[in-house]
Amino acid sequence: MSVNRTPADTSVVAPSPGATQRLHLSAAGVSVVLDVTDGRSPALVHWGADLGALGPTGLDAACAASIAPVPHNAVDVPVRVGILPQQCDGWIGRPGLTGSRPDGSGWAPRLLTRAVTLDGRPLTAAHTETGAALVRFDLADPELGLKVGLEVELLPTGLLRQRASLTSSADLPYTLDELTVTVPVPGHAEELLDFAGRWGKERTPQRSAFTVGTHLRENRRGRTGPDAAHVLHAGPSGIGFRHGEVWAVHTAFSGNHRHLAEQISTGDRILGGGELLLPGEVVLASGEEYVGPWLYASYGEGLDAVASRFHRHLRSRTNHVDTERPVTLNVWEAVYFDHDLAKLTELADQASALGVERFVLDDGWFGSRRDDTAGLGDWVVSTDVWPDGLGPLVDHVTGAGMEFGLWFEPEMVSLDSDVARAHPEWIMAPSADRLPLPSRHQQVLNLSIPEAFEHVLGQMSAVLAAYDIGYIKWDHNRDLLEAATRSSGRAAVHAQTRAAYALMDALKIAHPGLEIESCSSGGARVDLGVLERTDRVWVSDCIDPLERQQMNRWTAQLVPLELMGSHIASGASHATGRFHSLDFRAASALFGHLGIEWDLTQASTEELTALRGWIALYQDRRELLFTGDLVRADRGDSPLWLHGVVSPDRERALFTLAAVGRSDRSQHDRLRFPGLDPEAVYRILPLPSAARTSSLVPPRWMQLAEQAADEGGLPVPGSVLTAAGLTAPLLDPEQALLIDLTRAEVS
Ligand code: DGJ
Repeated sequence: MSVNRTPADTSVVAPSPGATQRLHLSAAGVSVVLDVTDGRSPALVHWGADLGALGPTGLDAACAASIAPVPHNAVDVPVRVGILPQQCDGWIGRPGLTGSRPDGSGWAPRLLTRAVTLDGRPLTAAHTETGAALVRFDLADPELGLKVGLEVELLPTGLLRQRASLTSSADLPYTLDELTVTVPVPGHAEELLDFAGRWGKERTPQRSAFTVGTHLRENRRGRTGPDAAHVLHAGPSGIGFRHGEVWAVHTAFSGNHRHLAEQISTGDRILGGGELLLPGEVVLASGEEYVGPWLYASYGEGLDAVASRFHRHLRSRTNHVDTERPVTLNVWEAVYFDHDLAKLTELADQASALGVERFVLDDGWFGSRRDDTAGLGDWVVSTDVWPDGLGPLVDHVTGAGMEFGLWFEPEMVSLDSDVARAHPEWIMAPSADRLPLPSRHQQVLNLSIPEAFEHVLGQMSAVLAAYDIGYIKWDHNRDLLEAATRSSGRAAVHAQTRAAYALMDALKIAHPGLEIESCSSGGARVDLGVLERTDRVWVSDCIDPLERQQMNRWTAQLVPLELMGSHIASGASHATGRFHSLDFRAASALFGHLGIEWDLTQASTEELTALRGWIALYQDRRELLFTGDLVRADRGDSPLWLHGVVSPDRERALFTLAAVGRSDRSQHDRLRFPGLDPEAVYRILPLPSAARTSSLVPPRWMQLAEQAADEGGLPVPGSVLTAAGLTAPLLDPEQALLIDLTRAEVS
C-alpha cells in the first residue's frame, strides 16, 4: 500500500477559542446529544434511540464515540457534521449557509459558538435534561460580520425541531442564498421514502436508495405543492408502518422550500431542509435578521411511530381543534358557480335533516365571479346573485342549527376585477410590462405591498363582521411563477408567504374563534407552517374513495385525522368518473374530518337514509378517531389494506379493511391488528355492511362475531389479533368493512 502522507498532526491545527459544551436531551423515548467542542459550531452527535441516563462521563463517551478516524487525503482533523454544515469544519457536502457580499466576501464563514443557553439559562459544560427543552446557540464570525442563532428544541412528544436565523453587521449588504439546517442519520439508513403527486393525486409515496449525492426536493411553486416531499424519511431497506428504525424531516413552510438527503463520500448522511430563496429575495443590511422556518425531525420504529409524534405535537397545541369536528357540507360539487338561494336553502335543509353541522358556501358569491375567469380580489358580496346579501342564506343555515362557512382565495386576483383595474401594480409580475402566464385565468395579488394587504384584510373582515361566519375555506389555486413585485421586478415569494401567514394571523385575532381550512387546488398547501394558523387541510379535489384511500393514508403521515377534510361525494366521482357504492365512499371518508360534497337534492331516499346512518356513526366515533393512535398494518403488496385508530388506553379500536384492488391469490394474508394490547382480550365485531365479497362462506370468526353481536362481538385474545391474525374476508375490489374492537371484561 502506498502512503503519500504522514499521519495527521492535529497540533498544527489552531484550536478554536471557545468553550466545550455537551448536552443530552431526552423526551418520549428519543435522545439528542449535542456537542460544542472548543467553541466550534454545534453538532448533533446522536439523534435517535433513548440512551438512558448519561452522567458527565457518559456524555463525554457518547461524544468521543462519534469522532471518526482521519482517513487519507482529507483534512487533518476528524470531520464532524454540524447542524449548519460548514467548509471550515471540513464538510465537503452542501453548506448550510450560502451567501455573499457584493465584493465576493462572506461566502465561507467560520461560525463559532459564543453562547449556549437552555430555556434561556446559561449552561454548564456538561448538561443532561429530561423532558422538553429549547437550546439556543449563538454563533458568530466577527471578521465577516455574520451572526447565526441556532435553536434546537426537543418537544414533549420527542419531536425535534431546529431553525436558524442570520444577522449581518457589516456595512456591505449580505445576500442570503440558502440557510439549511440538518440532522445526521446513520449509515444503515439505506432507503429514502418521500412523496410526489399532482393535482387530484396528492402525496404519492416514492422510495429510492440513499446513495452518494444529494436527493434534493426543491419546490418553486410558491406554495407547498401537490408534489411536496411532505415528510422525507430515511431508514433501513423496506421500512414499514410498524418496523424499521426511521428518521424523518419536514420543512414547516408554505412557500418555496427544500428537503434534502445527502450522502458524501465518507458515508456521512444528513437530512435537511429550509426555505428556498429566489435570487435577491433576502439581502440583509447591517442589523437586519432573517429567520428560517422550523425543520421538524421525527424518529421512531416504523412509519406509524414517526407519524404519531407529528400527531401528538399538533394535538398538544393550545389552539388545537376539539374532538367534535362538525360534519360539514361543502357546496362546491353540488352547485359549482351556480349560486341560487332557493337551491342552497333546500340543500341546507337536506343537510341539517341528516345531522350536518356546518354548511360551507364555496366559490362564486362575490364580485363578478360567475365563473373562474373573473372577480378574484373583490371580496364584496355580489348583488347580482345575492340581491339581499348573504343574510338570507346565513340566517337559514344558522337557524337550522348549523355553522356557516365561506370560501375565499385571498392571495389571488382576476384581471377582470375591480381591484386589478384600480391597482395593476399590485399584481405580481417580473416587470411592469409583462405578466406571468395565467393559471386558471388568474394572477397573484402581492400581499407584501401594505396597501394590497390592507385591502384584502379590510374586505374580508367586513364580510366576516357582517355575517355570522365561523369558518373560512382559504383557497390558493395557482403556482407563483415569476412572482415579483411589479414595480421593481424583485422576487417576492418569501415576502408573499409571510404576508399570507400575517393575514391569517390578523383575521384570527380580529375574529376570535374563526376556523380556517387550508385548501390549495385541493391539497397543495399541507405543511406545519400553515397548520400553525389553520384548523384543517383539504386533502384533495379528488374525492374518489379509491384514490382517497391512498391520499388520506399518506397525508396522515404528517396530519392527524381531525385535521384532514374527508368528504362523501356523489356516486360517480367528479374527478375520475369512477362509480363507488355509498358504503365504500363513506367507510373511506370516515377516517378524517367528515363532510359531504354532493347535491343531496339529487340523492335517493335510500341514499339519504344510509347517509344519515354514516353521519351518526361518525358522530358516535369521532372522539375515538380524534384522540386515538393511528395504526396502519404492513401487508406487503396485498390489495387488502387495514388501518385503524386505537384509543390511548387501548380499550377501544376501530379498523377499516379496504380492498383497493383484486388479488391474484384466492385467499388473503391473515389480518393482524396493530396497536392492540396483546395481554388483553377484545370483543371483535364487524359493523353491518353491504360490502360485496366473493366467498361462498365468510371467515368463521366473522360468523361467530355476528352470532355474539348482542354481547359486543366475539372475544379474541389480543395476542391472536396482533400476532397470529384472523383470516381475511374475500372483499371484492373497492369495498370496505369497518371492524369494532372493545376490551372484554375477563371473568
Ligand atoms: C379548488 C378547491 O380545491 C375546490 O374545493 C373549490 O373550492 C374550488 N377551488 C373553487 O374554485
